[in-house]
Amino acid sequence: MKRILIIGATSAIAEHCARIWAARGDALHLVARNEQHVQVIASDLKVRGASEVTTYVTDLNNMDKHEELLDVADAALGGVDIVLITHGTLSNQKSCELSVKETLAEIQTNALSTISLLTLNANKFEAKQSGTICVISSVAGDRGRASNYVYGTAKAMLTTFTSGLRQRLHKFNVSVVTIKPGFVDTPMTSELKKGFLWAKPSAIAARIVDAIEKKNTEIYMPSFWWLIMFIIKSMPDKLFRRTSI
Ligand SMILES: NC(=O)c1ccc[n+]([C@@H]2O[C@H](COP(=O)([O-])OP(=O)(O)OC[C@H]3O[C@@H](n4cnc5c(N)ncnc54)[C@H](OP(=O)(O)O)[C@@H]3O)[C@@H](O)[C@H]2O)c1
Repeated sequence: MKRILIIGATSAIAEHCARIWAARGDALHLVARNEQHVQVIASDLKVRGASEVTTYVTDLNNMDKHEELLDVADAALGGVDIVLITHGTLSNQKSCELSVKETLAEIQTNALSTISLLTLNANKFEAKQSGTICVISSVAGDRGRASNYVYGTAKAMLTTFTSGLRQRLHKFNVSVVTIKPGFVDTPMTSELKKGFLWAKPSAIAARIVDAIEKKNTEIYMPSFWWLIMFIIKSMPDKLFRRTSI
């Protein structure tokens, strides 16, 4: 039985991960900002077999609450084995271009709030010399593109931060798993036109749970995104800036 803290627990990808863990009888502590939604998910997870489900409600941009939320999770679960951090927003690139305030708010939600949680959690896991931290970054962080470079910048921060954290924590028996999904059909992307590159959140969740189990490092999901991003990253800037990829 694993003790799992899920931060951003109303995310569709997080909910599908939680269903897999619940079916295994794991104990779950869910953190989200929407109280009603997280209670519905918690009740469902109990029915699905979770040995225990507790909740904590906060807006994750309220970083003053981060220490408290991690302490509450520790107390609720009697110690944490796995932390999954999933919250995020798909930035409106056009309005960010017109507003510094909105740009910085997007960086706050998609990077700084997560970096705060990672730092606090890393120190807890380092002290007890065990644990797995998993964060959802994105392929969007691999190269800045005109269509979504604000969101991409935030995700690049997470990818780089977790790379350093992984190296720092390796000698303390703490794993850091960075997930880089491509397009996933969730509420975040409900307004985007879907095509053959799109994945279901249940499929991504199954791979996330597996990656955590195997203590993988940085993984593209589905794996074909490795090739797509390799090609995009390899393009010389002279050519890349003329494209609309
Ligand atoms: N879907 C994709 O194509 C895709 C691709 C690559 C990476 N990702 C990443 O995957 C992760 C999960 O997203 P998803 O696809 O599962 O989308 P989702 O279902 O829309 O989940 C996003 C979650 O983030 C929460 N959230 C946003 N801001 C928050 C805040 N300030 N405080 C607390 N919670 C906050 C939302 O809460 P509310 O429900 O209360 O709004 C929602 O539960 C995100 O980090 C996203 O960037 C998604």
